[in-house]
Amino acid sequence: MTCKRSHGFVKAVIYSRYGGPEVLHLADVPMPVPGDQDVLIRVRAAETTKSDCELRSFRYSVKWLWLPLRIAVGIRRPRRRVLGGYFAGEVVSVGGRVTRFAPGDQVYGSASLRLGAYGEYLVLPERAAIAPKPRNMTFAEAAAVPLGGLNALHFMRRASIKPGEQVLINGAGGSIGAHAIQIAHSFGAQVTAVDHGIKEDLVRRLGASDFIDYTTDDVTTTGRRFDVIFDMVPGSPYRRLVGMLQPGGRYLNGNPRLAVLVRSVLTTRFTDKTVTVAFAPETKEALATITEMIEASKIQSIVDRVYPMSEVTAAHRRVETEQRLGAVVITIGEADELAGR
Ligand SMILES: NC(=O)c1ccc[n+]([C@@H]2O[C@H](COP(=O)([O-])OP(=O)(O)OC[C@H]3O[C@@H](n4cnc5c(N)ncnc54)[C@H](OP(=O)(O)O)[C@@H]3O)[C@@H](O)[C@H]2O)c1
Repeated sequence: MTCKRSHGFVKAVIYSRYGGPEVLHLADVPMPVPGDQDVLIRVRAAETTKSDCELRSFRYSVKWLWLPLRIAVGIRRPRRRVLGGYFAGEVVSVGGRVTRFAPGDQVYGSASLRLGAYGEYLVLPERAAIAPKPRNMTFAEAAAVPLGGLNALHFMRRASIKPGEQVLINGAGGSIGAHAIQIAHSFGAQVTAVDHGIKEDLVRRLGASDFIDYTTDDVTTTGRRFDVIFDMVPGSPYRRLVGMLQPGGRYLNGNPRLAVLVRSVLTTRFTDKTVTVAFAPETKEALATITEMIEASKIQSIVDRVYPMSEVTAAHRRVETEQRLGAVVITIGEADELAGR
């Protein structure tokens, strides 16, 4: 079907300068216009992620990222004013060369670095990480999956986990960690989760068999050994964590400081341990695997709270400063339309 071109305006949460949650506000923005190979999606829900908060404030605990990212996203002010990387919604129209989707399809996925999911309408190339929304999930539940699912799947595959292996997940109660627990558990691993004590019940429910509260205990002094350590916590103690690996063990870091980048090469080259530092590519193939895992009940969506888009500042505050149990989601558009499947 050929795209209908519209020059109207639609609602979006935008920001025009870096700063606290109060820089976010609702505004009218031009309707995005799809091309021949694009899909126009009416967004119904978007996850409010730690990465969104970092882009908004431009405060990064991993300092070396600051300059390259600032050049990429805008030196004086954000170049892309609409945040939001992860969404669920409905296809409105498709370009003439699109074959995977049709108007009316309910979809979910990642806009990746293109962002834009805090707006009512989003244009993405057909080749982006978009897939049919899992049938058993609401829009809000589906939007809460792609960030954690895609990133966790990438790292858990890179870890080459074998059934029965001991896996430690540091930051296990966060968006990515909570999915990593479920995926490692489905691969047959024995998972130990490290996070704040209030998340113990949640992470155990997701498949962790052991739990360590980082506010009261130091995992590196427990004397335990692991085959795989997946670490999403910036600034965690590299030498002590790598020292907890079994011979042949794998340490994976999704949030590496510069020193960790350098040391990872040396550890992998000169010891029997392997260190992987990576940014996860987000592909439609990986999202299809995530959908299969959801439909096989291997992955569940964990939603902490859902806010209407008009309360996006509260959603950002919750992600940045409050203890939450799962993903924070904003609904996009009319509130009463959005609870539906
Ligand atoms: N490499 C990649 O491809 C990639 C992709 C996306 C995101 N990231 C980055 O990865 C980071 C994590 O993302 P996310 O969305 O999962 O964040 P998140 O939802 O905020 O999860 C982080 C979790 O770590 C916990 N934590 C904080 N300090 C800890 C400590 N010392 N020990 C153990 N756990 C601790 C947090 O608990 P509290 O609530 O107590 O703070 C929270 O539950 C972000 O900084 C993001 O920018 C990397």
